[in-house]
Amino acid sequence: MKFSLFTLFMTAAAANLGGAAATPLAPRDVYVPPVLYPHAGTVWFVGQRHNVTWDNSNPPKQITNKIGRIMLRKGSRIISVILADNFSILLGHIEVTVPWVEDGSDYQIENAAVFGDSGNFSPLFTISGS
Ligand SMILES: *[C@@H]1O[C@H](CO)[C@@H](O)[C@H](O)[C@H]1NC(C)=O
Ligand SMILES: *[C@@H]1O[C@H](CO)[C@@H](O)[C@H](O)[C@H]1NC(C)=O
Repeated sequence: MKFSLFTLFMTAAAANLGGAAATPLAPRDVYVPPVLYPHAGTVWFVGQRHNVTWDNSNPPKQITNKIGRIMLRKGSRIISVILADNFSILLGHIEVTVPWVEDGSDYQIENAAVFGDSGNFSPLFTISGS
């Protein structure tokens, strides 16, 4: 148990580092803004609608890919559910419906450019009510 929790934590940390590394420090035209909501402590119930939001305050001057995609991940699973697709990243938010997934406190939202190679992960949050 301890081992698997540790593994999960390390995987999540690695995923977050990956997301952070993808955030442009130097000008870069694949723009992946950080997720603001859901945040740590968020609880979503199956079937609810929520606005996933992200920080649009500092976009680069040139954005090649403005089309976004929001995915749901659980723990270190590679399987991901697409919650929203084909929207403008410049919107700053997109409404999603919480899908019928098993209860868990290790969900993450990934905000990704549709044609980008990496995304930004939200902190772990909870989905309940299935
Ligand atoms: C999401 O944001 C839009 C625009 O602000 C708003 O109209 C809508 O009611 C919001 N949806 C939810 C579930 O809060
Ligand atoms: C994506 O959105 C654009 C603009 O709303 C629309 O023209 C296009 O058909 C959509 N593409 C897909 C694959 O849904």
